[in-house]
Amino acid sequence: MKISLEQAAKRLNSGHVIGVPTETVYGLAASIKFPEAIADIFRLKGRPANNPLIVHLACFEEIIVYAKQLPAHFQILAKAFWPGPLTLVLPVREHQIPSAATAGLSTAAFRIPDHNLTRTLLKATGPLVMPSANLSGKPSSTSATHVENDFGHDFSVLDGGECVKGVESTILYWDGLAWIVIRLGAIAPEDFLPFLGYTPKISEPTKSDQAIPLCPGQLYRHYSPKAKLLLCNKISNDLQGAIVGFSNRSYPKNCRLFILGNSQDPHCAAHELYAILRKLDSENIEQAFVDMDFPNYGLWLTLKERLQKAANP
Ligand code: TXA
Ligand code: MG
Repeated sequence: MKISLEQAAKRLNSGHVIGVPTETVYGLAASIKFPEAIADIFRLKGRPANNPLIVHLACFEEIIVYAKQLPAHFQILAKAFWPGPLTLVLPVREHQIPSAATAGLSTAAFRIPDHNLTRTLLKATGPLVMPSANLSGKPSSTSATHVENDFGHDFSVLDGGECVKGVESTILYWDGLAWIVIRLGAIAPEDFLPFLGYTPKISEPTKSDQAIPLCPGQLYRHYSPKAKLLLCNKISNDLQGAIVGFSNRSYPKNCRLFILGNSQDPHCAAHELYAILRKLDSENIEQAFVDMDFPNYGLWLTLKERLQKAANP
């Protein structure tokens, strides 16, 4: 059920959970003033309690209320990328953010979304925690309709149109010496070079036996449609069935094509990715071959990682 900005603020300020757009993906939002509403997010998504949530802020000045320390280059990163699809993990002051949201960690993840409607909402509500608005393990939502499909037509969603980026924010963590990428996202690691003087390393995949996982969410199943995805470095000429691929390539005749855009345009592919994974299921496709013949750098890395996770639940 699509609701207005005023209704959205009212529902959040009275302790309800609603769907909210951002430039990356839709979020399932609750105010940090309502721990019960935060608990509802975990219940609604079927999300493990040890997977913390990102705190979304309206403006840069709010950060000092919550963060205990600001690591080197924090100001530079925030100035360059906020509002935008960058999430920074920072040590937090005690009792400022409910432990349900931080999963009891001494840090919290923060970002300022680049979506006017959402920042206006944030000004009316204060900080909102928002995981992606999808059932745990499933593809994220990039439109209000996707949110309704997952949580029901009576579930309230603020409709902000299709998400411009289409994949989640990039998460950076300060390890004491340097920033490292703990989740690939809409900003490519190389894009930080001019601001940091180095390209942040991508952390090793989180393992379940780590005492404190760098990015708890990376332990869990993600982005998977019901359809089985078969990742192919080359699509062979005799293949039959459904193919997720690119508009400027030729594929075997009689295949059902799901087009990510032009193979030179990772932004378009990111924008289309989750909608296509969802479409496979709404069209009852049981398995699809995915054309993985694209580069190993930039935003393509994020696409590769998302598809690998989606294919290996
Ligand atoms: O683009 C996005 O980031 C979207 C939109 C709605 O803002 N949100 C999003 O949230 O992707 P979610 O919950 O699907 O993913 C958040 C990730 C999880 O992997 C979680 O483990 C990690 O952020 N995270 C949250 N707090 C953390 C912390 N204190 N330390 C390390 N990782 C953290
Ligand atoms: Mg998610």
